[in-house]
Amino acid sequence: MSAERIQMVDLHGQYLRLKGEIDAAMQSVIDSCAFINGNQVKSFTFHLADYLNVPFVVPCGNGTDALQIALMALELKPGDEVILPAFTYVAAVEVVVMLGMTPVLVDVSSETFNINTSKIESAISDKTKAIIVVHLFGQTCDMESVMALAKEYHLYVIEDNAQSMGADYKYSDGRKKKAGTIADIGTTSFFPSKPLACYGDGGALYTSDESLAEKSRMIANHGQQTKYHHKLIGCNSRLDTLQAAILDVKLKYMADFIEARTRAAEFYDWAFSDFEELLVPMRVPYSTHVFHQYTVRIRSGKRDFVQRYLKELGIPSMIYYPLPVQAQEAYKKVTREGGDLTESVRLCKEVLSLPMHTELAESEQQYIVEKIKEALQAASEHGEK
Ligand SMILES: Cc1ncc(COP(=O)(O)O)c(C=O)c1O
Repeated sequence: MSAERIQMVDLHGQYLRLKGEIDAAMQSVIDSCAFINGNQVKSFTFHLADYLNVPFVVPCGNGTDALQIALMALELKPGDEVILPAFTYVAAVEVVVMLGMTPVLVDVSSETFNINTSKIESAISDKTKAIIVVHLFGQTCDMESVMALAKEYHLYVIEDNAQSMGADYKYSDGRKKKAGTIADIGTTSFFPSKPLACYGDGGALYTSDESLAEKSRMIANHGQQTKYHHKLIGCNSRLDTLQAAILDVKLKYMADFIEARTRAAEFYDWAFSDFEELLVPMRVPYSTHVFHQYTVRIRSGKRDFVQRYLKELGIPSMIYYPLPVQAQEAYKKVTREGGDLTESVRLCKEVLSLPMHTELAESEQQYIVEKIKEALQAASEHGEK
């Protein structure tokens, strides 16, 4: 085994498996020349609503737009505060700032990587209007706690579900809902590496509230309900027909994709079970995990050494994320720290995401695990802490 074939995400391998169907779907869009708002956009939107068991899906240009449209549809105003996790991808923070609001950062749990719900309440002020939770790496936040707080303080909740499409949230009474369909609005990205992904940019919002759906649809289309009559200030954010056609094919395989990634995660779990310095991702009782990422924590201070060691052998790995939001140059001065953010800082020094995708072979994983073991040993010998 060598590292040559190992990829962080194998988009080409997955394409080859579905080539016949994907090529035919793309060809039919080209034949129709309905590149914008073609039938495939309607078809995919309908199928996604069915998959998520949610009444309204609004397609849009990407996951960042979806977040912006959601905030605009909720009519949040400059000066409002929005609570967000400090350890996250920056998209949600960015749109909050761009709309003139203040992101209030709350620490995450270093075990689940998601917002620590016990720390939200103390971050709430009389300006707080919403909470954006991010279901990071493939597993949801503790939504019952979030929704209870939102109810008590009259806050909107947006679920950024770009990384956890397909995960099931399990209520304490046994009911289940798809991630992203629990709060006022869920948003997602179809960026090529995401759990449900297209071959370019794409995104969507979903909601059970008809008026929010209608407003979101208008905002994504220049604020117009009928052509050239602009009722709201909007933007131009569309899901291309070609991307919708690809997504419509891939949506049928979501269960297979999740199963393949879960199998790979279980292999890693098993293979790392006797590694003292490395913690495998925790599973929470209230959510299934779709393993957008398989993120381990290397607590002995050897993370960077391990990553360098793997890199020299050609094994890819990623640090999601190297800095918490409060340490980002652009956001230092425009965010408020809603309490102590120690765990977010710590995670940025410990996390390492390993190759994880639907095509990952056990032999590749075996090789990765073996080399991580070697790296940890070499780090000790080099006196790396
Ligand atoms: C959690 C999260 N939110 C939002 C986004 C933004 O999605 P997009 O790149 O489609 O704008 C991403 C994408 O990387 C993400 O991971």
